Amino acid sequence: MSKPIDVTIVGGGMITNDLLLPAIYHLQRTGAVAAIKVCALNSPPLRALKENETLAQAFPGQEFTAHPSLSEPPDRVYPDLYKKVIAEMPPRQAVVVAVPDQFHYETVLEALRHDQHVLCVKPLVLKYEQDVEIEKLALEKGLFVGVEYHKRFDRRSLIARRHYELGHFGEFVLGEARLIEPYLYRHSNFQNWFTCDKTDPFVYIGCHYVDLVYFITGLKPVEVSVCGVKGRFPNGNEGYLWSNGRVRYENGALLSVTNGLGYPDDAAGANEQGLAMYFEGDNRCGLLEHDDQFRGVAHSYLEGLGSGGTHYNYINPDFFQFAKWEGAGYKPAGYGPDSVSAILNTIHRIENDAAGLGEAESLQRRRAAIREMDEKGLVATPANSFINELVVEAARLSILSNGDAARIAYGEQPHVG
Ligand SMILES: NC(=O)c1ccc[n+]([C@@H]2O[C@H](COP(=O)([O-])OP(=O)(O)OC[C@H]3O[C@@H](n4cnc5c(N)ncnc54)[C@H](O)[C@@H]3O)[C@@H](O)[C@H]2O)c1
Repeated sequence: MSKPIDVTIVGGGMITNDLLLPAIYHLQRTGAVAAIKVCALNSPPLRALKENETLAQAFPGQEFTAHPSLSEPPDRVYPDLYKKVIAEMPPRQAVVVAVPDQFHYETVLEALRHDQHVLCVKPLVLKYEQDVEIEKLALEKGLFVGVEYHKRFDRRSLIARRHYELGHFGEFVLGEARLIEPYLYRHSNFQNWFTCDKTDPFVYIGCHYVDLVYFITGLKPVEVSVCGVKGRFPNGNEGYLWSNGRVRYENGALLSVTNGLGYPDDAAGANEQGLAMYFEGDNRCGLLEHDDQFRGVAHSYLEGLGSGGTHYNYINPDFFQFAKWEGAGYKPAGYGPDSVSAILNTIHRIENDAAGLGEAESLQRRRAAIREMDEKGLVATPANSFINELVVEAARLSILSNGDAARIAYGEQPHVG
């Protein structure tokens, strides 16, 4: 009998509600996960998760423990409570990091220092040096760190990677990616942290396609330039609301990346996204085209159930949907849950393979499993996805200097000029 792992999610916001908690509840009922705790800055997001009717309907009888407790006053904040919750966990369980980007580094380190495996939402961290530090510490302690880039688990990406590996497309030469999130993001908690000094649309969502092109081709980016368009959130904070980036690869290929927070809430897709890639071959060219928004399914509901309150909606059956299954409630289906499961199942497998071994042998076995995952390059890890930190770092330099190209020399810090 395999032993399930305890999971603590740090962060109770949108990604926890929309993907992480449902995926983890499902792993709980299928036997890989034991107790679930969710720790947020204050009690309101935890109350919202507890009172979410869709979750209650999909996972009847399942619960998580809230930190702080719901009886705490909503305006009281607990920025350090997650440290206490992590410190109380038995060793070598899993911490899921789902706080805003700029807090990933300290939260991941806190988990590793307390001997916990980690699932971190993308981007792992904002600096390459921090990625290297995390990779080193995790390997030293035999702890797995998986970065949740779920586009890798979209079946179309997995198929594309096989064809690229086998040479069916030719060599990547030019591409265009776009991901525009809905306008309603501007009204969310984003307005408190998505400010010009901290992040921008390229770093926040462009990174998905930068990671994906690297995942498909294995080509390393060597130069990034990003221009942004600033605007005000409803609370008056200034953020880059739109961005356009250009990534140059080691073989000279170029990828243009368009991002923003402004897909109309009234429109049918929950957002707008897609990828086109061209390839050079022997006396002919190859092509890949992914429409990642309209995947051929449209529903019109009696009530406005779309993310922006729309009745008529394009449905993405591939990322995340609750679907009928053979068990109780509904099952979270799609590449989002697949990606979360791949990471937590890896942690579960690593711990069960090492169960009953002496300390030295267990450490050796866990390190070998981590290296194998690094090598395989399916789940993003600090060792196999560090190009993302280099690109993010270079992108921030570039956008803050109005689009000057930032160069990435491997083994050095990115620099402008
Ligand atoms: N497609 C994706 O992979 C994807 C999508 C959305 C978000 N994300 C990532 O998920 C992360 C969170 O995004 P979100 O949209 O859920 O944000 P959000 O603003 O909705 O939620 C952030 C949460 O973090 C909590 N938090 C902040 N400081 C904390 C602290 N000190 N201790 C405990 N909790 C704390 C807040 O209480 C809040 O619940 C970001 O890094 C984002 O980039 C990834």
